[in-house]
Amino acid sequence: MTKRVAILISGGGSNMEALVRSMTGDHPARPVLVLSNDPAAGGLAKAAGLGVPTAVVDHKAYSKDRAAFEAALHAALLDAQPDIICLAGFMRILGAEFIRQWDGRILNIHPSLLPKYRGLHTHARALEAGDTYHGCTVHEVTAALDDGPVLGQARMRVLPGDTPDILAARLLPLEHALYPAVLRRFAAGDRRPVMLGG
Ligand code: GAR
Repeated sequence: MTKRVAILISGGGSNMEALVRSMTGDHPARPVLVLSNDPAAGGLAKAAGLGVPTAVVDHKAYSKDRAAFEAALHAALLDAQPDIICLAGFMRILGAEFIRQWDGRILNIHPSLLPKYRGLHTHARALEAGDTYHGCTVHEVTAALDDGPVLGQARMRVLPGDTPDILAARLLPLEHALYPAVLRRFAAGDRRPVMLGG
C-alpha cells in the first residue's frame, strides 16, 4: 500500500522539494502534507506550487509551552494520517512524548557524518576539527538529539580553502540525493543504510 509522507520544514525547503519531486511513478510513497513551524518559511510556497497541502503551526504562538506546540503539531499530523514523517530542515527540537506518538516513523536529515557534530554549526565544527571528510546523515529520530539508527550517509572531501558556507553549499546536492534514496528504501520496508559518495 502506498505510504503517506508528511514533511516538516522551517526554512527554504530544498530537501522537501527533492523529496516531493522523488515521489512519483513506482515510488512506494506520496507526499500528503508539508508542515512548518514558521509561517515565513520559503518552502511553504514551493510545496503549494508542487500541489502538496501545507499547514503552519507557529511555535511563536506557544511562547515557551513546548507541550502545547507539540500537541498542535500532533493534531495537524493526525489530520493528514502520515505513515512517515520526514524532518527536512525542521529546526525545533521534538520532545520525547511527541516522538513516542510517532515512534519508528520519523526520519531526519542532519548536515554531518553522525555521530560527529550533533546540534548546530556542523560545517564550522568539521573545519575546526581538520576533518578530511564531511557529509550528511539520514537517521531515524529517537528521543536523543540527532541520534537514532543511521539509514544513510553521503560523504564528500573537505578541500583546501573550504569555509562553512562553501561546505554547506557543496553538501546540499548530496542531501538532495541521499534523502530521497533513503525515503524510497524506508517506505518499501528496507532499513539497510544507503551510502553515497567518496
Ligand atoms: C539542510 O542543510 C539540513 O541538513 C539542515 O538544514 C538545512 C535545510 O535546508 N538541517 C539541520 O541542520 C537539522 N538540524 P532546506 O530547508 O533547504 O532543506
